[in-house]
Amino acid sequence: MGLNQGRILPDSRWRIPGRGRPRGRAHGQEPGSEPAVFPSFQACPVAVDETETGFAAGLGVPPAGRSLAGDDSFAIDSLWVSAERFITLFHAENRAGPPDRRLRHVRREIETTGTYRHTPDELTFGARVAWRNSSRCIGRLYWQSLRVRDRREVTAAPDIAAESIEHLREATNGGRIRPVITVFAPDTPDRPGPRILNSQLARYAGYQTADGAVIGDPANADVTRLARYLGWPGGQPAGRFDILPLLVQEAGAPLTLHELPADAVLEVIIRHPEFGWFADLGLRWYSVPVISDMYLDVGGVCYPAAPFNGWYMCTEIGSRDLGDTGRYDQLPVIARHMGLSTASDRNLWKDKAMTELNLAVLHSFSTAGVTISDHHTESVRFLQHMEREERQGRACPADWTWIVPPAASSATPVFHRTYQDFDKAPNFYRHPAPAMVKSPWLPRW
Ligand code: ARG
Repeated sequence: MGLNQGRILPDSRWRIPGRGRPRGRAHGQEPGSEPAVFPSFQACPVAVDETETGFAAGLGVPPAGRSLAGDDSFAIDSLWVSAERFITLFHAENRAGPPDRRLRHVRREIETTGTYRHTPDELTFGARVAWRNSSRCIGRLYWQSLRVRDRREVTAAPDIAAESIEHLREATNGGRIRPVITVFAPDTPDRPGPRILNSQLARYAGYQTADGAVIGDPANADVTRLARYLGWPGGQPAGRFDILPLLVQEAGAPLTLHELPADAVLEVIIRHPEFGWFADLGLRWYSVPVISDMYLDVGGVCYPAAPFNGWYMCTEIGSRDLGDTGRYDQLPVIARHMGLSTASDRNLWKDKAMTELNLAVLHSFSTAGVTISDHHTESVRFLQHMEREERQGRACPADWTWIVPPAASSATPVFHRTYQDFDKAPNFYRHPAPAMVKSPWLPRW
């Protein structure tokens, strides 16, 4: 899936000064917790001073008095340029006839309201093409099959949570994973859209202990601290695989926590087809990676909350999530159980342990009836996708460093060639991490 980290298109930064996004005014209080003073924020990135400190920094809260995108006419022009390109693309690829009428309508709408509304067909097409343009995603062959849940009317935090839960169920589909995106309200000149602070809808907590160690997933230590600060009790006792609550920011309202019901997240116990001891490692993973910290940019309109998913490729979980030293770091314990010495690198204990871990992930998902692919199959599919795109006369952007799998790299065909990488709209972009997630002021535990 698309992971164009941190790139900001000028087109996606439009804002009409004077029409006023809410500025850092909400003061949140969760039941049973300390009063939290977290400003609301404008969801899509705007120019934020790197040197600023405190909770407002990185939230995209425009400091009072700062003009962000120049004058109205610049913002409108830049939105119009993106809109025109997108609407023209939509009409060309969908054989929808000349775009002129629709363009005139959009132009007028932008001039009078400062934004425009996509038709349901445009939204669906925009979300699919955003996937197609995601240069870091190896799984793009099926871009046209993306199911688009149009939830643009949804802005309230409890409804965002409920729809996210529904997304998980629909995407999980009893194990036959379906690629799905749920598109919540866009940013508009008078109101920013909502935002989900978790990086994925289902994530495991990472509890930082006094000695600096982490119980659970270190990748989520910051968001875990924030959730705890807002009153989330965490696992009792803290476990390695506790599903985090959703952290939802609604415009002009306090940040709120929403527990996911246990039956919304299908998890797979990791076992090995031959090594009986493997199950005793107590490893598991959730079935569906639903990316929730990226915004969708379609024709200059920014949808700050648009969680989307595909299905897993085994190396994402085996090589990276469970294997990385900065994550669950399971290679040493697996190697020891395999009877391998970890004293030196030269016996390739890491390579052997990683292969068995990837095999265990594949085996466990398949046995549980949950869709998962392997890096060999997915590599072949990706090259098929590239060929198809070329036949359609489209250049397919790809980032070698993300496309090439982290295991058996040179044994996959995607390794042995180069790609052109470039930014193509529509697309997904990662939100900068909100400063309150990173804040050093939050207590550790
Ligand atoms: N690599 C991420 C993870 O391990 C998931 C990214 C999206 N992956 C996907 N197959 N759609 O959780």
